[in-house]
Amino acid sequence: MNQPNDVKHFVASIAFDKRLYREDIAGSVAHARMLARQGIISLREAETITTALASIQGEMERGEFPFSVDQEDIHMNIEARLFEKIGPVAGKLHTARSRNDQIALDLRLYTRKAIADTLRALRGLQRALVETAERHRGVIIPGYTHLRRAQPVLLTHHLLAYFEMVERDKGRFRDCLERSDVLPLGSGALAGVPYPVDRQSVAQELGFPRISANSLDAVSDRDFLLEYQAAAAIAMLHLSRLAEEIVLWTSAEFAFATIPPEFTTGSSIMPQKRNPDVAELVRGKTGRVYGHLMGLLTVMKGLPLSYNRDMQEDKEGFFDTVDTLLACLEMCAGMVKGLEFDRRRTLKAAEADYTLATDVADYLVGKGIPFREAHGIVSRLVSYALSQGKPLNALGLEDYRRFSPLFEEDVRRISARTSVAARHVPGGTAPRQVAAALRRARRLIEREELTE
Ligand code: ARG
Repeated sequence: MNQPNDVKHFVASIAFDKRLYREDIAGSVAHARMLARQGIISLREAETITTALASIQGEMERGEFPFSVDQEDIHMNIEARLFEKIGPVAGKLHTARSRNDQIALDLRLYTRKAIADTLRALRGLQRALVETAERHRGVIIPGYTHLRRAQPVLLTHHLLAYFEMVERDKGRFRDCLERSDVLPLGSGALAGVPYPVDRQSVAQELGFPRISANSLDAVSDRDFLLEYQAAAAIAMLHLSRLAEEIVLWTSAEFAFATIPPEFTTGSSIMPQKRNPDVAELVRGKTGRVYGHLMGLLTVMKGLPLSYNRDMQEDKEGFFDTVDTLLACLEMCAGMVKGLEFDRRRTLKAAEADYTLATDVADYLVGKGIPFREAHGIVSRLVSYALSQGKPLNALGLEDYRRFSPLFEEDVRRISARTSVAARHVPGGTAPRQVAAALRRARRLIEREELTE
């Protein structure tokens, strides 16, 4: 429903920052305890405050908390409720703190959790890729360039290409954690606080390895959110490409693979149709994630130091980015796990359209012909085969010999399987290389699962 267009609603963020309640309360508890340790408030006061905060958290978990737009944001909602519960001592919690360092803290705590969830979900997709690759060992598909059949490759090799992309995505999120895992509390509104606070102990209690070095920067930087969103945009790009391949592979034109029916939906007018909606939506949702990144870059670009209210606009796009990425990772893992390939059809496609021409050229190179020359010979051979309407393996040896006397009977034994096996370089598609890559991939996932 539309909210009234008055100032109160216009400036309020409670509708969306309420999801930071756990982080906000954890930060307040750590802050109150530190204030007591430093003798800024009494131990009893700190205890009254932290006990009440715990009961407020309970109200929120149970959905009983009376959120109100009159209290603008999550910080004020909690503080107002604290006052209702314990009276004026509630007002001591905000000693040596500002909403500016408070929101920066909440967002950093939330980002840390989001990164952990994201890493787990990325690994879930990697596991799905590895499992489907293992189930389809030995399956050969056409490899493409320009979406034209180019050379045969192992399906496992193709799936592991996505494993590598996801591995780099994980690296980007870990890098982002490195820079977001910094305690901003103690920066106050912008200049620091005039109390003998112990920032290190708060950092320790909240699990931050470092404290921020500059208060102006700490209350006004959101580049950790930008990094998350940039990493998310790249991860979505990868998911979108995977989704596109699933759409292609499962189309009647390719008919390489099927996805389980729960990842498709029917058409409301064409009874025969099963549409790959889930894959299409992953592809489509990539747009909003890119949009949120551009949105926040634009919000931040003209802001003078330090905090500006514009920055309240950082949240909705960020939350939606996290939600969208996690959902899409879950969907992609499910689809990939359920993929079943038609190995006869993919093999046939892998050998069609003269995909073995390069191998024939390499054959001539093996007989001492320079590659460029071999390329020319085979290109004439392919034109000839095309004019006869025949695939290369339907030509007789005498046909081959019209183009080079070096061809012998064994040239007719070139197949998708020999082509794949020949590419026995690290990173290549030969079965032994791919088997080793698959083992490495599995080990990597298992090691991570152990250390979690
Ligand atoms: N709701 C605000 C935000 O998200 C919290 C910080 C408000 N600070 C202030 N000085 N008004 O940015």
